[in-house]
Amino acid sequence: MVIVHTIAELRQALAAFSRPAFVPTMGNLHAGHLALVQQAQALGDVSVVSIFVNRLQFLPHEDFDRYPRTWERDCQALRAAGCGVLFAPSEAELYPQPQTFKVLPDPALADVLEGAFRPGFFTGVCTVVMKLLACVQPRVAVFGRKDLQQLRVVQQMVRQFALPLDIVEGRTERSAEGLALSSRNAYLSDAQRQEALRLSATLKTVAQAIRVHGPAAADAPLLRDLEKQAMADLGQAGWQPDYVAVRSLADLSDPAQATSALETAQPLVVLGAARLGAVRLIDNFDV
Ligand code: PAF
Repeated sequence: MVIVHTIAELRQALAAFSRPAFVPTMGNLHAGHLALVQQAQALGDVSVVSIFVNRLQFLPHEDFDRYPRTWERDCQALRAAGCGVLFAPSEAELYPQPQTFKVLPDPALADVLEGAFRPGFFTGVCTVVMKLLACVQPRVAVFGRKDLQQLRVVQQMVRQFALPLDIVEGRTERSAEGLALSSRNAYLSDAQRQEALRLSATLKTVAQAIRVHGPAAADAPLLRDLEKQAMADLGQAGWQPDYVAVRSLADLSDPAQATSALETAQPLVVLGAARLGAVRLIDNFDV
């Protein structure tokens, strides 16, 4: 594995390749990231992983400073996974001047769900992803399905700017008990790790209830009741839920606002975000 820290070194390392396959990360890698790297390897002639904790996507009160930085362990894991090139720029390299040009995503997609609770988050994500894509110039990039809204925002950005790459979805890796793997799981105590399973279980219960109701489930009052019940269940178990929301899988629009039979019949997904103590977790399940 070649490790590079500057854009010039990166370009040199990739000069001989025509189809780089890219996985952007913020480090603190787990099996979910490594599965994305393996997926990338099969899609290109070299796999490129970036590690960069992107200040632009953290709100002032969020965990930028304490975000786990696990450089040695990440390098070892990436080597073992067969990563070709690791790009780990410093902040001064990626943002040599204050980043005053930003990529503003469509508010209809980016100011809801995560964006409603983390204002500016997707602007930070889009801006760094655009910049990383400009540095790596991949033909394909893999984004995890656990961050479904991020995946949809990036897909829309790539489509609308006609960027010359394919965005591929990487499936959510889970622990044996069903906890979606996430860098922020590192913050959980043993007891919280057990309790954390409740989020995925709650979302699954909503998905199952919608399946039971069949097409009638697109009925707005029923969806809102299921969402409210799920939030209440989490609240009763000591969580602080931000949202539980049933949305269209394709574009995260609200199925209760569907205006045609075709829209009503579209596949749905249940998304949720909730705080367990100081740890904020997100997950989603297909209906
Ligand atoms: O999903 C992440 O780890 C980050 O949001 C990303 C895509 C690497 C951008 O900083």
